[in-house]
Amino acid sequence: MTALSSSIDSNRLRRVLGSFATGVTIVTTRSAGGRPVGLTANSFSSVSLSPPLVLWSLRRDSSAMESFVTARHWAVHVLSAEQQSLSDRFARRSEDRFAELEIGHGEGGVPLLSDCAAVLQCCTVAQHLAGDHVIFIGEVLACEHREAQPLVFHAGRYAQLAPTLCEA
Ligand SMILES: Cc1cc2nc3c(=O)[nH]c(=O)nc-3n(C[C@H](O)[C@H](O)[C@H](O)COP(=O)(O)O)c2cc1C
Repeated sequence: MTALSSSIDSNRLRRVLGSFATGVTIVTTRSAGGRPVGLTANSFSSVSLSPPLVLWSLRRDSSAMESFVTARHWAVHVLSAEQQSLSDRFARRSEDRFAELEIGHGEGGVPLLSDCAAVLQCCTVAQHLAGDHVIFIGEVLACEHREAQPLVFHAGRYAQLAPTLCEA
């Protein structure tokens, strides 16, 4: 196999990729021992409507890797503009991220967070090692959403959607 070019500076690449605005999600699962696990992720993307498939990717050295590799079920929570502090909490290392949160129980006991813009409960159909990340592809088993302004991430910062300008 031909080696991929490594001539691209990773800081530059990070800045370039940051120009692609995304939503922000928290992906949750349970460890083999039953502990709730979750992290902030903006690598989420839709893949297919029929069958219903989505994907996201996880850093290989993430503390959550073992849990997601062994878990059958996980849930993607699309965050609303009011949930920036929840995003920060699930992106920090040392904290008990679920402390004092009201947790629901989804497919396979997956922890569900409240008041999100959307929730997709999934089961893993494929895992692909890709560079320093693992891509998880999941089939959507259940999903729901509500009218809410999304939390946006762009150029390494949170952002909000600008209101559409309507002609009078
Ligand atoms: C907006 C945002 C998006 C992120 N997206 C991802 C992602 O898609 N995949 C990932 O592995 N980490 C992502 N992270 C970083 C993880 O949230 C963070 O590294 C992790 O929670 C740190 O602890 P860990 O060792 O448990 O992964 C993101 C962080 C932020 C703030």
